Amino acid sequence: MKIVNLIVKKRESEVLTKEEIDFFIDAYTKGEITDYQAAALLMSILLNGMNSQETTDLTLAMANSGDILDLSGIVDVAVDKHSTGGVGDKTTLVVGPIAAACGLPVGKMSGRGLGFSGGTLDKMESITGYRTDLTTEEFLDQLKNKKIVLAGQSADLAPADGKLYALRDVTGTVPSMPLIASSIMSKKIAAGAQKIVLDVKLGNGAFMENLEEARELAEIMVKIGKLAGRETVAVLSDMNQPLGHAVGNALEVVEAIETLQGGGPEDFVGHCHEIGIHMLMLGGVADSEEEAREKVLGVISDGSAWEMFKVLVVSQGGDVKEIEDTRLLPKAEFIETVKLSRDGYIAEVNARKIGELSVNMGAGREKKGDPVDHAVGVVVHTKVGDKVQEGDPLFTIHVNKENLIELAKNEMMDAYKFSDSKVKPLPLFYGVVK
Ligand code: URA
Repeated sequence: MKIVNLIVKKRESEVLTKEEIDFFIDAYTKGEITDYQAAALLMSILLNGMNSQETTDLTLAMANSGDILDLSGIVDVAVDKHSTGGVGDKTTLVVGPIAAACGLPVGKMSGRGLGFSGGTLDKMESITGYRTDLTTEEFLDQLKNKKIVLAGQSADLAPADGKLYALRDVTGTVPSMPLIASSIMSKKIAAGAQKIVLDVKLGNGAFMENLEEARELAEIMVKIGKLAGRETVAVLSDMNQPLGHAVGNALEVVEAIETLQGGGPEDFVGHCHEIGIHMLMLGGVADSEEEAREKVLGVISDGSAWEMFKVLVVSQGGDVKEIEDTRLLPKAEFIETVKLSRDGYIAEVNARKIGELSVNMGAGREKKGDPVDHAVGVVVHTKVGDKVQEGDPLFTIHVNKENLIELAKNEMMDAYKFSDSKVKPLPLFYGVVK
């Protein structure tokens, strides 16, 4: 088999067979296919799509590219959650500890920034010493003993996704339904999750811009989960404006900590509660939504979710002093707040533009393997629907290069729209696919 024939076939919108997909994944994982040929195939898939059989075959090939963990002897039930990617989405940092504090072990394999969306690993690595490169043995050991793990793909779990993910990030091949579905579900299957909550985002700051596409992505992932024997629930959530206020690695860690300690922005808190409730119900820790909500609120108010976050950080080598005193986390050299020059209502806070800006500021990557700047990003002080007055803070930029200050301010202004008349706030959720 020759990779160039597969590229041509997909370029011509033909259907790839299971053997062809297995060949591609196996050879690319072994380093026998170049990045430029893999990128050409990914682009053809992005442009011409895959049917549900091809998507399932791709997912299983990627899951089988390395070991598949069996967690049944380690924990009674392992629940995982995964987001399809958004701007300001630090949900995992909060719901992982919440679920674990409620007695539901969380063994999570996360990703890095992808395109304009942030990545959990990059956020956690804002904490000095925090290790995301656990071996499988370390992953299992920590899950068994600490009930919470938040790591990257080890070389032996879904290595094909590890390689393709980094390639997609820098080749414009992220927003593709089959590529997202296979990337997420292969990781979840390989890491041994028995129950999975998917946070499928939709809007201008998500890879699926409308409800129809997001529902289709949710349905295919739920179907793949079922085929693989992993009960999966997908929640459709809004990503037209950043989630919460903070966008940027260390800034998001700070917001997650505030939320774990009982504060946090209203929309982000509501979002975390909802995802947490789904995790508890799916994991059998709560029988009803009310019971799950009580548990979620309980572990925040009694401090045990925050304690669980500290357990996670310490277990993975992170400096606990930095999360106890967040002033010690990386901080940008130039921090400037822009204030409103008019009264009115906030009509738009374009998440995509803010995500792209934060990548350009250094929070994301231009090339594979680029380092990220953990300190930079933006904080939005207003959300769609807010009534505002001249002089109110609109946003704060955190940059490390002086020449980016004006550019960042201008691009942030470009992300906003204002109105003189009342604007409806955006919904948090659009539905659930089971
Ligand atoms: N998250 C992933 O793990 N993969 C994607 O392709 C998108 C979001």
